[in-house]
Amino acid sequence: MSKRIVFVHGGPRKHGNTRAVTALTMQAARQAGADVAEIDAIGLDFKVPGCIGCHKCQQTEVFECAIGDELARKVATLAEYDVVVLATPLYWWSYTAQLKMFVDRMYSLCKFSEDGIRTVMGGKTLALIATAGGPMKDNLEVLESQLRNPSLMIGCSFASCLFPDTTAEAGELVNDSSVVEKAQAFGRQLAS
Ligand SMILES: Cc1cc2nc3c(=O)[nH]c(=O)nc-3n(C[C@H](O)[C@H](O)[C@H](O)COP(=O)(O)O)c2cc1C
Repeated sequence: MSKRIVFVHGGPRKHGNTRAVTALTMQAARQAGADVAEIDAIGLDFKVPGCIGCHKCQQTEVFECAIGDELARKVATLAEYDVVVLATPLYWWSYTAQLKMFVDRMYSLCKFSEDGIRTVMGGKTLALIATAGGPMKDNLEVLESQLRNPSLMIGCSFASCLFPDTTAEAGELVNDSSVVEKAQAFGRQLAS
């Protein structure tokens, strides 16, 4: 059966390098037979930014944020996919604020209790595509572990495709054939 993959765009620059490499990964995944969908985390409407810690999502059997805005509804759709890919440039050694709002709302996809964690994310792959301006050592490794650790905690496998030391102008990173090869190989990996 085809893999259902959703790419969540966290890069504010529509013509930036993160979206350019992510487009190559999406195209390769499609060519490898995956059903590919996209969520643009930058333009989502919200009543309040991110999670407000009300814990209402923990008091129902529904796996959806109780705030009930577009951000909540989009996050709830992650349950439909086999693979969730977060794509972001590195901002201050982390992911963008817009993507952070999205990821924090993913709390609603889990029920935390003394008995453990019940989640609609279990068994999925959570993946990261990231670009960084470098050249600080390990800058993307810090981001990678920020996402790998919670992924494993909620029963997801984790995969990443990282582009440190991106000095290319916006959108021009994909003029490098080794970048193209790496982005496409990741798409095939996610689809397999
Ligand atoms: C607000 C901001 C913060 C950034 N912080 C970092 C950083 O901590 N480390 C780094 O290597 N690059 C940093 N960068 C550079 C971007 O991660 C890098 O240029 C990235 O490839 C841009 O992706 P884009 O073309 O998709 O926007 C930052 C850029 C901005 C605008």
